[in-house]
Amino acid sequence: MSDRQEICVVGSVNTDLHACVERFPLAGETVGATGFGVSGGGKGANQAVALAKLGARPFLVAKLGDDAFGRDRLADFLALGMDLSGIRVESGVSSGVALVETESGGQNRIVIAAGANAAVDESFVLSLGPRIAGAAFVLFQLELPLASVRRGLSIAKAGGAATILDPAPAAPLPDDIFALVDYLTPNETETETLTGILPDSRDKAIAAAARLLARGAGRVIIKAGSRGAYLFGPEGLALRCAAFPVAAVDTTAAGDAFNAGFAAALAEGRSEAEALRFACAVGALATTRRGAQTAVPDRAETESLLAAHPGLGAERF
Ligand code: RIB
Repeated sequence: MSDRQEICVVGSVNTDLHACVERFPLAGETVGATGFGVSGGGKGANQAVALAKLGARPFLVAKLGDDAFGRDRLADFLALGMDLSGIRVESGVSSGVALVETESGGQNRIVIAAGANAAVDESFVLSLGPRIAGAAFVLFQLELPLASVRRGLSIAKAGGAATILDPAPAAPLPDDIFALVDYLTPNETETETLTGILPDSRDKAIAAAARLLARGAGRVIIKAGSRGAYLFGPEGLALRCAAFPVAAVDTTAAGDAFNAGFAAALAEGRSEAEALRFACAVGALATTRRGAQTAVPDRAETESLLAAHPGLGAERF
C-alpha cells in the first residue's frame, strides 16, 4: 500500500431540490409532488461526502456561490470533519442547483443550473496542483468544464496519483482524455454514449469495455444497476459482482457512492475484486433512501450489508 493517504475529489457541488412524483409530467403539464426534500448534491460533493462517511480523508476541490445554499453545503462538509481548504466561494454567482424528479419506480431525471461549478477553471485547479498530485486517488466527473477536468487529470497523472473518472452526466469524450484515466466508470447509459453499445448483457459489456480500453482507458468498470458491476483490464481481466439485494426507492447518487466506495477500498489496500464488492454494497445502500448525500451509507451500514451476504462477491468470468 502506498504511503499516500488522501483521496482528492475534483468536482461539482449542488443543492438538490428533489420532488417525488407518481409519473413525470408531459411538456406543458403540471403534476403534484407526493414528497419534497432539499439535500446536498452534486456528483463531486456526493463522492466526497460518501468518502467521509466511509472513514476516508477526502479533499474536495470545488467552488460554491456566496449564497444560502453555498453556506448550507459548507456547514454539511464541516459537520463531517472535511478539510475545506480546497473549496472557494465565488462572489456574484449562485451555487450549483439540481432539480431532481423521482418517479415512484425509482427512476429520476435532473436539470442542473451549474452556477459556481462552471467557474472551476484551469487556473483554479492548477492553484491546488500539489494536493491533487500528492493524493493516492483523484476522482473526477463531468459536471465541471471539460478543460478543468483534463487539467486535473494531467496534474494527477504527472504526480503519480491514480485517477478515476465517472463520465457522468453522459457526454462524448475526446480521445486524449482516455489515456489520463486509470479507472473509467460509466453506467449503462454512459457506456452507450461513449461506445454505441448498451451493455445490457455480459457479451455487450465485454464488447463495450473493449472499445473503451482500445481508446486508452487503463481499466473499465461498467455499473450495470440491477445486473451488478463489471471490471475489465487490458490484460484480459474480467470481474463481475452481482447486485446486492436491497429495496431501491431512489437511484440518485448511487453511482457517486459506488465510486467513493471503490476508491476508499483501494486506498485501504484492498484488491480490485474486494473493492468492486465493497463499491457495489455502498452503491446499493444509496438506493434505499431518498436524496443524494442524505442517502449515502456510512461504514457500519456498509460492513453490515457485506457481512449479511458473505457469498456475494466479485468473480472472474
Ligand atoms: O449523481 C447525482 C447528482 O447529480 C445529484 O446529486 C445532482 O446534484 C446531480 O449533480
